[in-house]
Amino acid sequence: MKVLEKEIRKRRTFGIVSHPDAGKTTLTEKLLLFGGAIHQAGAVKSNKIRKGATSDFMEIERQRGISVATSVLAFHYKDKKINILDTPGHKDFAEDTYRTLTAVDSVIVVIDGAKGVEEQTKKLVEVCRMRSVPMIVFINKMDRNALDPFDLFDQLEDQLKLNPTPITFPIGDGLDFKGIYHILKDNMLLYSSNDKQHLPIYHSIDIADSKQVTEAIGVPSFEQLKENIEVVDELYPKFDIRKYLDGKIHPIIFGSALKNFGVQELLDILVEIAPHPKPQISENREVRPNENNFSGFVFKIHANMDPKHRDRLAFLKIVSGTFVRNTPYYHVRLNKKLKFSSPNAFFAEKRQVVETSYPGDIVGLHDTGNFKIGDTLTDGEKLIFKGIPSFSPEHFRYVINKNPLKTKQLKKGIDQLMDEGVAQLFRLQINGRQIIGTVGILQFEVIQYRLLHEYGAECSYEALPVYKACWIDQNNQHKEFDEFLRLKQKFLAIDKSEQLVFLADSKFTLSHTLQKFPSIKFHFQSEFNAN
Ligand code: G4P
Repeated sequence: MKVLEKEIRKRRTFGIVSHPDAGKTTLTEKLLLFGGAIHQAGAVKSNKIRKGATSDFMEIERQRGISVATSVLAFHYKDKKINILDTPGHKDFAEDTYRTLTAVDSVIVVIDGAKGVEEQTKKLVEVCRMRSVPMIVFINKMDRNALDPFDLFDQLEDQLKLNPTPITFPIGDGLDFKGIYHILKDNMLLYSSNDKQHLPIYHSIDIADSKQVTEAIGVPSFEQLKENIEVVDELYPKFDIRKYLDGKIHPIIFGSALKNFGVQELLDILVEIAPHPKPQISENREVRPNENNFSGFVFKIHANMDPKHRDRLAFLKIVSGTFVRNTPYYHVRLNKKLKFSSPNAFFAEKRQVVETSYPGDIVGLHDTGNFKIGDTLTDGEKLIFKGIPSFSPEHFRYVINKNPLKTKQLKKGIDQLMDEGVAQLFRLQINGRQIIGTVGILQFEVIQYRLLHEYGAECSYEALPVYKACWIDQNNQHKEFDEFLRLKQKFLAIDKSEQLVFLADSKFTLSHTLQKFPSIKFHFQSEFNAN
């Protein structure tokens, strides 16, 4: 087998998503621990913006630094190369998470066993489901009182539209948690609550050996387990790797990240079944990872921690071919060649200069303002990868320049922050006023703070009641379109890529406008050509 093909098959690039506090950070850390990438718990810092940090800018800055370190956590496990792409848990950074999800080949969804499906998980899972990303669900915190497993499956079906396929099944929960039954292996793993910081000693029991089983968990638990497994057998689909890879069934694993329980099972199943890098659709054609020609796209840009040096780190997902240090690559949007002398690879929580990288890997490229999210690098072909849309922001404000002497700095700062994907910028057609749209209000404060500290520019905001931004397809114009432009001119803006956007000020206006202009195509995400 060719080296490239071999390297592709080794790669497992995935993201972990959850509602905050479900245990994503703990699980990530434990995966690293079990993967042998770190040797003690507590080594990986959480990149989440702690509760109550809304007005604590230093905290946001500190977290920003940490999140560079934990943006990609790579390690070798068995004969595989694992790349975990970290996603911010804070809902105000949801857009960041959506973009990161465009660079993963599969996903682990962490659910708190006591709380079940929570709000943020819904949106994140929807984004993955729309793209048919294979998902494994880890039901965490089984060491605490949890919901009934079948109720949890119902929630996964009803609220997340998943098709649960239990791989392990819990025996009790909370103080009564005795372990898990591994449906595929037909054995049992016993839980011991002393496993605090240590790797657990597993007692694997063959379920057929009922004497040993009843001794371990007691007759009532065993009877209950048998009954449960019968129900699972009857009601839920059997595991089938093809269906999982097509995003049609969703394997479920139970455990406790905090107590190191079920994590090994998760890691083992992940390296066994999770997909290696797959072909990626571009505007021109489908690009296969094993093509000799290199290609990749930028899905995230991170500003440097040091405000004196305005360099940034662009995160490039390699789609095809081999990336080699110091090779001139073609930057499609800028139509020029760029060379990278110190591309970074990420190992556990360290960064190091890398010579070659393969599809599935993430490379950190030092950037002095050449990159925007969605940019493509290739060996020379004009490829543009699809699938990095912007969604309508939730909050909109006019930007006001507070220091006219710093107009240039303000413009540069806003431009660069928008390239990083911190927020979206719109320009009102009627008067050119700039509007910033964000997913959460925290970003407004981050922008204000960073403009001042990194660019020396001062801004304030003025509220703007916008309910939703809709992108308008200008390709199919007709007479109704002129009427729309005339009537709605006050509410029309242009986004960063010169697309026309309608800023509806209320739900009512939006539905009224949709009714009034039935032949105009309104889209709720920027990349509607991809649909
Ligand atoms: P997140 O990244 O999804 O936001 O969650 P994180 O891992 O930070 O976990 C949130 C809280 O849940 C933490 O407690 C963590 O220790 C706890 N936790 C995670 N997994 C488990 C589990 O399997 N069982 C139990 N019982 N708890 C779990 P905290 O008190 O909020 O934070 P900390 O002080 O422990 O860091």
